[in-house]
Amino acid sequence: MEEILVNCLTRLLSKNKQVYEHSLRVGNMAKRMASYLNFDEQQTRKFVIGCCIHDVGKILLPDGILDKSAPLNKEEWKMMKIHPLLGTKLILREGILDQDVVDIVRFHHERWDGQGYPFGISGDKIPSMARMCSIIDAFDSMISDRPYRRGMSMQEAKEELWRHIGTQFDLLYVERFLHLLEDLSSALEQ
Ligand SMILES: [Fe+2]
Repeated sequence: MEEILVNCLTRLLSKNKQVYEHSLRVGNMAKRMASYLNFDEQQTRKFVIGCCIHDVGKILLPDGILDKSAPLNKEEWKMMKIHPLLGTKLILREGILDQDVVDIVRFHHERWDGQGYPFGISGDKIPSMARMCSIIDAFDSMISDRPYRRGMSMQEAKEELWRHIGTQFDLLYVERFLHLLEDLSSALEQ
């Protein structure tokens, strides 16, 4: 699976540097989250790999959509919303069959209230690793600059996560993620 991971990341890098860097940051934070939640070695491996390639389907989207320096129009959004399906197909074809990894790629844009995409499943029907990945993914996206907007401060992004508990996110994992961030920032201050 590691070989396929490297291959996917290499392809992401040549497709779009911003998506590649985001993927690495999400993978990195996933590792910290896994250790915070006392995942065993196997769970950690799956969670980190899944988070690193959650957006791999974007490789198959037109460059114009990923590079666009303005918000996407309706048609472009329609295409963007299929990237979890494209990613799932791609990794299955490459030979990643692990259910947890596939679930992260397939369901990382589902929302707790069922208003996510592409399936619109809700609550704990969304596999737990995908629920966690969506929180880390959203947090990194919020604090990152985009061509058309500046990233939020850490504090603002934390408040956004908190505000979207029960709609976008699962309460339990937002709480845990915010505790993890507190621990990391107090470790940095020492
Ligand atoms: Fe995504």
